Order: sequence, then C-alpha cells, then structure tokens
Amino acid sequence: MAALTDDMKRIIDEQRLGFVATTSADGTPNLSPKATFVVLDDDTLAFAEIRSPNTLRNIANGSKVEINFVDAFVRKGYRFKGSAEILERGSAGFDDLIGLFAGSGDLVKAMGAIVRIRIEAASALISPAYDRGQTEDELRRAWTERFRNQQPGGEFV
Ligand SMILES: Cc1cc2nc3c(=O)[nH]c(=O)nc-3n(C[C@H](O)[C@H](O)[C@H](O)COP(=O)(O)O)c2cc1C
Repeated sequence: MAALTDDMKRIIDEQRLGFVATTSADGTPNLSPKATFVVLDDDTLAFAEIRSPNTLRNIANGSKVEINFVDAFVRKGYRFKGSAEILERGSAGFDDLIGLFAGSGDLVKAMGAIVRIRIEAASALISPAYDRGQTEDELRRAWTERFRNQQPGGEFV
C-alpha cells in the first residue's frame, strides 16, 4: 500500500483538480477532469460525481483508476493508481463524507455519488524542464507570467 506523503496531500489540496483515467468495456481509455478531490486519509482520496457517466460506468464495471494531479506553475505533480468504490447518494458512506464537499456550495445538491479511491501505487511527475537545469522558482515565474499575460488586460481577474 502506498501511503500519501505530506507533499502529495499538499498538491491535491492545492489543486483539487485531478484527471481520472478509467478503462471502458471495449478496452479504450476514458480520461476526464474532476475538481472536487479531497484527501480522506493516508491511503484514500475521493471526488464527487456530478456529471461523469462514463467514469462511473467504468468503475461499476470493475475498472481500476489512475489519477494525475499537476501544478501547472512549477510543472510537477503526482500520479496515483488505485481501486475505486462508488458511494451512491442515500447510502451511509455518502452521508459520512458529503460534509467534506461543503466548500462546493450549491454544487453539493448535484452530487449523485462520492467516488472513494484507495491508492495502491504513487509516483512523481516532473517536467523534463528540470532535466535542463531549470529551477522550481524559474519555472514558477515563467509560467505565472505566461498565465498572467493570457488574462484580459494582462492581469489576473
Ligand atoms: C475543470 C473541470 C472540473 C470538473 N470536475 C468535475 C467533478 O468534480 N465531478 C464531476 O462529476 N464532473 C466534473 N467535471 C465534468 C466532467 O469531467 C465532464 O462532465 C466529463 O465529460 C465527464 O466525463 P466522463 O463521463 O468520461 O467521466 C469537471 C469538468 C471540468 C472541465
């Protein structure tokens, strides 16, 4: 069992956005973003199902999951492989965890299930920019600047 490190938990808390891969019945990959991730404990994550029919169907059919979280500014992240369990609205498991999503406001009403994921393997994702000697500070500055310039008027709104 791969325990989540403090840095893994930090990046999940900061980003909340993970890309979830499952396998469809025909063997094709299914990848989609979920921005409701929470850390439950040292081995377990969860996201809220709002509108994810394919991901839910694949999990119900027994698919394993892989999730990638990336900090787009420092060009680092983590990938996790694990087993997922669907806690439908109305179940005791759903009721136990739904309070953790209170920060999503009105979206909570649209949450039809909570997907709990037990992490079985974890590894780091690091941009090849680091192979060329660039530092975290340099990359953060460069990518912050790039994102800022993409905003209307060149400023964050
Ligand atoms: C940034 C972003 C965050 C999203 N977060 C969630 C989420 O937390 N839960 C969810 O069910 N759908 C979320 N969605 C919507 C699903 O990713 C989207 O409906 C997708 O088409 C579902 O595909 P699937 O059925 O293959 O999972 C999000 C979409 C985006 C773009």
